[in-house]
Parts: sequence; C-alpha cells; structure tokens
Amino acid sequence: MNYRIHSTDIELLRKTGVQEDDIKHCIKVAEKALEIAQRTGAKVDMELIGRGALFHDLGKAKTHEIEHGKIGAEIGEKIGLKKEITDIMEKHIRGGLTEDEAMELGLPIKDYTLKTLEERIVIYADRLVDIIMDGIVDIKGDESQAEKRFVEILKEHQRYGKNEITLKRYLNYHREIQDLMKR
Ligand SMILES: [Fe+2]
Repeated sequence: MNYRIHSTDIELLRKTGVQEDDIKHCIKVAEKALEIAQRTGAKVDMELIGRGALFHDLGKAKTHEIEHGKIGAEIGEKIGLKKEITDIMEKHIRGGLTEDEAMELGLPIKDYTLKTLEERIVIYADRLVDIIMDGIVDIKGDESQAEKRFVEILKEHQRYGKNEITLKRYLNYHREIQDLMKR
C-alpha cells in the first residue's frame, strides 16, 4: 500500500502549536519511515508508519524536554489520534525505554519498549533523519551514508547513542531493518 502524508495532518501539527522547524523534522521522519518501510518489503501498516512518524514530536508544541513524548500522546488522544499512533509518540523517547530506565529518567514508570515493526521503523527513521539533518556528521549530501555508517556514527557520537543500553537498542533496530532489506 502506498501512503502519502496528508496536508491536513501537517496543518494539525501547526494548529497544535508545533514550530516550523519541528514540523520540517516530522515531515522528513515520515518520508524516511515510509521509504524504509517500502524498502523492507515487509507487510506493514503504512498509514500507521506515516502518521505515527509525522505526529511523533507533537509534544514539542509544549516542551522540548524528555516529557514531550508523554505530553504529545496526551494531546494526540485529545485530538482523536488512535492508540497505535499515540503509543509511538509516547514510546519514541530514547528508542523505547524499559521500566527501569523510565524510573531513572523520572517518567511515569511503565514499559515503553517497542513491540511492533511499525514502531521500530519510525524510531529508526527518526535517528537517521537526525544524522542526516543535524550537520554534525559529514554525510557528503548522500543520505544513504547515514545507514551505511550507522554503527560507527552512533558509537562515535554520544548525542545519537546516548548510553550503552540506548545504543544497543538502536543498533538492534538497525540490524533488524537492514536485514529485512537484504532479503
Ligand atoms: Fe522526539
């Protein structure tokens, strides 16, 4: 199934108060997530991937702190986004926290780990887009470098790998999704 990002959804981000540079990021993550999903050839819910990615940072309308996942999910629920989408919004922080990590970070204690391929594709795309857009790593105008050098980049830049457990999580998503694409 081919899914295209709806301009009404972009307008919804704007109306909720998300800033233009964050909207740009959200659109780019949605495009990247849909591209990745297509390339895996896996049977996935493209609408969930497109909309989950587009809305993942909705909480940035209120704050850029770590709570933006939780706050985004709350706003999302209010404006009628379905649970699978608000789950992605709530769980995207650090790629899917365990209960222990949530406790350490002062977030509501629960299991935020990613259970579906759709969730993992969105979170992987979010990381790729940061690498592509931040301008910290020189990818020489070639987006595919973010995937090819993913392991090296995450290990080298704490900004992307964060800590040992988060790094491991992202490397696992990378391996899983790249393996699907090789099939
Ligand atoms: Fe975010």
